[in-house]
Parts: sequence; structure tokens; C-alpha cells
Amino acid sequence: MPLVPEYIQKLSPYKPGMHIETAKRKYGFKKVIKLASNENPLGPSPKAIQKIEKSLNLNHRYPDSYAYSLRKKLSDKFNVSIDNVILGSGSEGIMSTIMRTFLNKDDEIIGVENSFIGFRVLANSSGNKIQWVKMNNYKYDLNAISEKINTYTKIIYLANPDNPTGTYFTKSDFKKFMKFVPQRVLVILDEAYFEYADSLDDYPDSMKYRLDNVITLRTFSKCYGLAGLRVGYGFAHHNLINNLMKVKLPFEPSLPAQQAALAAMTDYDHLNKTISLNNIEKNNIINELNKLNMNFIETSTNFITLIFKNVNQSIYFTKNMLKEGILVRHLSSFGLPECVRVTIGTTKENKIYLEVLKNVIKSLNETV
Ligand SMILES: Cc1ncc(COP(=O)(O)O)c(C=O)c1O
Repeated sequence: MPLVPEYIQKLSPYKPGMHIETAKRKYGFKKVIKLASNENPLGPSPKAIQKIEKSLNLNHRYPDSYAYSLRKKLSDKFNVSIDNVILGSGSEGIMSTIMRTFLNKDDEIIGVENSFIGFRVLANSSGNKIQWVKMNNYKYDLNAISEKINTYTKIIYLANPDNPTGTYFTKSDFKKFMKFVPQRVLVILDEAYFEYADSLDDYPDSMKYRLDNVITLRTFSKCYGLAGLRVGYGFAHHNLINNLMKVKLPFEPSLPAQQAALAAMTDYDHLNKTISLNNIEKNNIINELNKLNMNFIETSTNFITLIFKNVNQSIYFTKNMLKEGILVRHLSSFGLPECVRVTIGTTKENKIYLEVLKNVIKSLNETV
């Protein structure tokens, strides 16, 4: 028997968007604009920062492994019992717990090609058989997913809205799809960008459906601006949560993460600012992209994915943005080599981004 199972040997490590410090170190930049990881450009809620500072002198203690205060607050907000709530080190932490809790050796997973890479890494490292379903014009094809369900299927992963495309499936798509999903199959409904899409009339907020085989995942990493602290939350039937609690690492999320999330949840001012800034800037960027005749995917998130004619163009664009200190995300590792994902930043950042973009597109049209 090899030391490392073959399915692990075959994997390549997760490649995140380039870190600001890495770009500074590698390229000698003094300033970098990072539009590569869909973070909140306004930073954390000031109330969360205060709460973290206050909790610092308690960090010689382990956090409450039951995380009563945060789970209670989430259960009150979403009108469920505390036994329906789980926390983790980011929503990816909970995804990992789900895989370790529910998958038997012969169980199969269904995922969507070109969707969230974090799930792909977890699925591949489980050693279970995976059915990857193609997207249709950068959108989930729920019919094609339902056709893949067989007697071995245990987990289906859906990100709504999706990363890296920014597209979403509608209420009627979801209702129709769930009719084909047997009760024994768990659907992970990843709603990391929920707050950005929630105001859309036909967006299916999974918390309004209360389906016993659906686990809803959300996060404090995106519009709450706490990506560095790693805190995510999930809702599900209490039987599922009960089993997840047996497998989850006992002390995730950390003490500062729990404290910050408690404060961020009620900082409505910061949340509203984040969402309205995103809406204003999104419209502005879209106007400019249209003026330049650029091709992009319609988005319901805090990023816009650009579609280039070919890989040479997308690579040229990414490299030339980087030369100017602007980090964007080339999507080859997501299987979309013609695409580049760009997070919506602050007004100032977007202004610089658009100025540089215009120059890069001009030279691209002349050379590639
Ligand atoms: C669709 C999706 N799910 C989950 C995550 C991970 O979130 P977290 O930081 O809570 O682990 C991301 C992060 O980019 C994401 O885009």
C-alpha cells in the first residue's frame, strides 16, 4: 500500500487569488489593488473590530465549543432552533465536515464543472466517485444534474449564486429540481453570496423552503468582511446538525471569529453600505464594459467575470493588469481559461481599475 493514496497523489493544491504581500514581495509594488478574491473592499465592520479587540485578553482560553451566543443569534435571526445551526472555519470548514460525516466508501458526489474550486478540492480529496456536470452558457443546468442522480448518489453541491460565474438559478428551477432529488440525497446549497442576490425576485432563498435534505451554507467572509477570521454558518435538519457536531473540529471557529461575527451581524449600517456600494459600482463598471464592447457574464454577486475571445487574450489581460499592480483572477484553474474574474472594489479602486483596463484593452486589440 502506498503511503499516500493514489487519488491524493493526483491532486494539485488549491491555488487562491494572489495575496497582496506575495505581489509586493514578488514584483516590488508599494501599492496593490486586490480584486482577486471577492472580499469586502470596505473591510470588516468597525463594531466587529472593537469586539475582537475586547476579546484579545481572553485568548489564552479555548472558545465555547458549543458557540452558544453566535448560534443562538443566528437561530433567532433566521427563525430556527439552535439545533438547526452549525458553525465552522469558514463555510468551507463546514463543507469539509459534511464530507467527513456523510460519505461512505461507495457513495457518489455530483458537482458542477467550473463551479467553486474549494468544493472541487474537497470532493477530489474524499476519494469518492464524482460525477461532474457541465454548465450551460456559464449557468447551472439543473436538469442535467438531476439526470445524473443514481442509487449511489449521496451529495449534490450547488452554489447559488455561483462563483466564478456570478450566475444564479431561479425559484422555479430550484422547485422543479428538488422534485427529482430523493430524500436520501443531501443537497449542499452554498449561498456564500446570498446577501448580494437576496433582493432579486426570483432568487430562491433556501431558508424559505425548509427541506430536510438541504444544508444551507453561508459565510461571514463576503459581505460581512471577515474572510481572514474564517467563520461560516450552516442550517439543516437537527438530525443532520447533530451528526455534523460529532465530526466537526470542536473549537472552530476561533474565539475572535465568534466575537467578530456576533458584532458584524448587527452592524446593519456596514452591511447596507457594502451592498449599496456594490450595486452602484457594479452598474458603473457594467456601463464602462459595455462602452468598450467587452463580453462579460451577468452577475448577482460582488464580482464580474470577463469573457475573452481566447486564452491568449485572457492571459495578456491578467498579466498586464498585474504589471500595473492590479490583481485579478484568471480562471484557468476553474476550467474557464478564456475568463478572468474581477471583484468589485471601492469607488477609488474601481476608477483605477477602469483606467488601467482601458489601456490594457487598447493594447490587447493592437497586439493579441
Ligand atoms: C461559492 C463559495 N463558497 C464558499 C466560499 C468560501 O467561503 P468561506 O470563506 O466561508 O470558507 C467561497 C469563497 O470564495 C465561495 O465563492
